[in-house]
Parts: sequence; structure tokens; C-alpha cells
Amino acid sequence: MKIQHTDILIIGSGVAGLNTAIRCAEFADVVVVTKGKCAESSTRLAQGGLACVTSETDNFEKHIQDTWIAGGKKGNLDAIRVLVEEAPFRIRELTKLGLNFDMQKSGEPDLAKEAGHSESRVLHVGDSTGKSLETILIENAKSNPNIQFMENVMARDLFLEEGLCRGAWIWNPEISDYIVVKAKYTVLATGGAGRIYQRTTNPAVATGDGFAMAARAGVKLENMSYVQFHPTALFHPKAKGFLISEALRGAGAELVLPNGEKFMHRYHPDGSMAPRDVVSASIWKEMKSNAIDHVFLDVSNISESDFLKKFPMIYHRCRKLGINIPADRIPVAPAAHYMCGGIKTDLFAKTSMPHLYAVGETASTGVHGANRLASNSLLEGLVFSHRCANNIFAEMQKFEGIIACPIPFFVFRKEHSTRKCALYKKKITGLMGEFAIPGATKSALEYALKEMAQIAEIAEEWTDICAPDKQVMELRNMAATATLVIQDALAKVQPTGNNENQEKQVLKKLEIPELV
Ligand code: FAD
Ligand code: SIN
Repeated sequence: MKIQHTDILIIGSGVAGLNTAIRCAEFADVVVVTKGKCAESSTRLAQGGLACVTSETDNFEKHIQDTWIAGGKKGNLDAIRVLVEEAPFRIRELTKLGLNFDMQKSGEPDLAKEAGHSESRVLHVGDSTGKSLETILIENAKSNPNIQFMENVMARDLFLEEGLCRGAWIWNPEISDYIVVKAKYTVLATGGAGRIYQRTTNPAVATGDGFAMAARAGVKLENMSYVQFHPTALFHPKAKGFLISEALRGAGAELVLPNGEKFMHRYHPDGSMAPRDVVSASIWKEMKSNAIDHVFLDVSNISESDFLKKFPMIYHRCRKLGINIPADRIPVAPAAHYMCGGIKTDLFAKTSMPHLYAVGETASTGVHGANRLASNSLLEGLVFSHRCANNIFAEMQKFEGIIACPIPFFVFRKEHSTRKCALYKKKITGLMGEFAIPGATKSALEYALKEMAQIAEIAEEWTDICAPDKQVMELRNMAATATLVIQDALAKVQPTGNNENQEKQVLKKLEIPELV
């Protein structure tokens, strides 16, 4: 086992981790560790863009109000105000770094409209804003001599000394050993946990590692059951969870049933542009009552040239799959998309544990309430990572040195079964998809919790006694995160007066593969 020292350890290389690193490198040595290649993140997949007040008809109060309403009035208004009012500064910094948002011929930004926004205010780069953003941030961070990257490694757990966070255990498969990166300050920027669900828009790295690591260390989390499902993920066997941006509905696309009937106006006055939680719940309802596994997005009122100009990535992906845009309707269904809750942080990204910060999707700043307003997430990553760096700078001025405790050794005895590990991961996603989607009943959640406890126990045991392995660490984190989600859902569940017999029948009908 190796030991490495740094000022600041950042776990994760999405928008939140990279922006924290770039800011912190102005005054400290930084190590960024990341599970895959640097670009592998939700950030890279982002399509719609970043919400920011820029037009003359818009103002801060409208953006604050939209964010608050979309979040079911459960958000933290102080945090929302910080997000909205600091947005223009952070956007200006991005453009200085070289990010060119789409502009109109007049020289004004080309602003898209997304669900829940009372104004067009989403800055974007075509329909692949995340890729452009991530590329610029990586280029910038990688050329900075104060930032060291460790790619294809995995943070296993936080490293604690006397109740303080002092870094993390990093598993490096290349040398088959742990590196304990000891840091004055540690920042969790590990993103979301979409991969605990069967259907998700999230990349493979989104297994909830940050939530699980924080929970194991006794750090406070909140609202873990506020999982946002995106209403329009492509429903196609060859493109599981590929996102069909909400901006498409902003440009005129309509949700329809197989017979072509528009149905969203039956659920909300804003129809297909209603807030995401409303649209997803309405689609589920229609899917259930019509016994169908998806609905469609009718894009026929967007001209092909407009489609190609504004949504080139979606156009080419659909065409490649044989969906003839814009004549063909796009098959879509909801998919797990975003964790609105997470590690509880204050307005400076501080967690409940001294010397530990959390930024981006893994943090719960309170901005999103129970349902995030579209295109507020990349922005939140930027705004709060900036605040995080400022706070670390201030704290570092009074830093008093590290008390070095002995580092325990792990003893590994046996190999685990890779096949079983994959099956258990599948079982987690099956349980979450069937029993723990929003609106699940108490008994369904209790059933899922019981099953999850068994998986969590096995994963803990494997982690303790088996040779270290990324798959096992992920399994352990997925089970822990899923447990946190179910527990929070149970704490919030409304008594529905459901017929117990009916529910038992539902439970019996579902087929979760038995493990051998
Ligand atoms: P991520 O970008 O997910 O990065 C997390 C990083 O942590 C990754 O590098 C990962 O490898 C690393 N990591 C995780 N666990 C470990 C570990 N144990 N050890 C080491 N490294 C680890 N939001 C918007 O505002 N606008 C949009 O248009 C938009 N579109 C989206 C489209 C899609 C398809 C998806 C999935 C999300 C979209 N979102 C959008 C949401 C937004 O992209 C994410 O919430 C945001 O990018 C999260 O940034 P992050 O830095 O917190 O995490
Ligand atoms: C989208 O483009 O629909 C995703 C936007 C977001 O998640 O904020």
C-alpha cells in the first residue's frame, strides 16, 4: 500500500470536480481521481444546456420562482438565489475558458426553452452541450501543472482521522494496490446513481459511490428518494436510456399515445411542457392503463432542417437506429436521470464532516427541492464548486497540520465470483425498477428493503474478504445507495389505503432472478 500527500483531493471528473480543481489549483496542489477515463461522466452526456438569465424579458426572480415551483416548493430559497444570481458570473468564466454557446445572427445567445421555465433561458451548444463543456474543462485542467490526474482508479472509502476527513483509499488496478491519498481537504464530486435502476440515462460510472462512501463515514445525507426520472429516454433495444432532450418538446414536439392521441393536456395545463415529475408520472399512468411499455414523441411539426440544425446528435442517433426523423415518431419512456437529494451541504459545499466537501449531483444544496428544473444541474455544479474552492482557500489559511494515525491494512483471502456480482447488480436494478420508483407503496418498499439488505450484507462481506475489485466495490455502493433511497422513500411514504391482497398479487407476479 502506498501513501501520497496532497493539499486537495477531488474524487470525480465531471463539471463539479473539474471546476473545483481548476479553481483550487490557483492556490494549492490538487489530485483528481476518477473511475474511468476523465471524460466518462454524466456531464459529457448533457444535451439541453445551462439555464441562466440573459434576455431582456427575463429576470432573476422568474428563474428563482421557476426553480422553486418545479421543486414542489421544497427547495432551499437561499441556495436557489445563490444559484440564479451567481450564474451569469460563472457562465462568463466558461466563455473565457473558450466555451462558445450557440448564438443567433443578431449576436444574442440562442436560448432554448425547457419544461418548467417561464422564459427561454437555456444556453447550449447544439444538443451536445455537455461534451463541449467537459472537453474545455479537461483541456484546461490537464494543462495545469498543479493538478495531477489519476484515471481508471476507484475511491473505495474516505480516510478518516479523529473524526476528520483526511483523504481516501484509492484502488489502483494497474498496480493491484491501494493508494491512500492523504489530503488537507477532500471533495466528493462523484455524480449520481442512475445505475441502481434498470432504465437510466446515466453512464456506467453513476453507481452512487459518493453517497455510499459518505454514509459509511457517518456524513449526513438528505432526501435520497427525490430521484428524478426523465420522461423521454429513447425506448429502443439498441440504445438503452439514450436521452431525447426536453428541448425538443420546447421546440414543439408532443407526447402521444400509439394511436396518435396527445394526452399531456389531460394532466397539466402546460401539456408536454409540464415539469418533469408530472410528465413522467403521467406517462407511467398511460403506460399502465393502456398496457404499453412506451409512448411516442411526435416531432413532425419540426422541419427536418430545423431538427438537424438544433438537434444534430439526436437526429443522427435516431436515423442510425432506423427512426426516420421527423416523419417517424420517437419511442420514449421515463428513465432514472438525476438525484435531487444527496450529501447535505451548506452554501459553501461543506458537509457535516470537517474537511469534507461535496459538489455537483452528489451534493444536496437544496436547490432542486423534490424535482430539478431542467438545465439547472450543470449550473449548480459550476456555482457551488466555485464557492467550494473559495471556502477551501479561506480554511487553508488557518490549517493546523495533520495528526498522522496508523493506517490499517486490509487482508484479502479469496476471489469473488464475477458472474454472481453481475447478477446481484441486476437484482438491485430489478428491485429498484419494480418496487422503488416514485409512488411505490409501503409494502413494495419494505419488500425491496429486505431484499436489498441481503445483497448489501453479501457485498460488504466480499469487500472485506475478497481481492479488491471494482465490480464488488460498485455492487457494495449500489446496494448501500439503493438502501438509502428506499429508507428515505419509506420515511416519506403516504398511507394510501392500498388493498393488501392486490399488492401481494403484484409482488408475486414479478420475476426477479434467483441467485445460485
Ligand atoms: P458527473 O459528471 O457524473 O461526474 C462524476 C464523476 O465521478 C465521474 O468522472 C465518475 O467517473 C467519478 N466517480 C464516481 N465514483 C467514483 C469513485 N468511486 N472513484 C473515482 N471516481 C468516481 N444537466 C443540465 O443542467 N443540463 C443538461 O442539459 C443535462 N442533460 C443531461 C443529459 C444526460 C443524458 C444526463 C445523464 C444528465 C444530464 N444533466 C443535465 C444532468 C447533469 O449532466 C449532471 O447532473 C451533472 O453533469 C453532474 O455533474 P457532476 O460533476 O456532479 O457528476
Ligand atoms: C435534457 O436535455 O432534456 C436534459 C436537461 C437536464 O437534465 O437538465
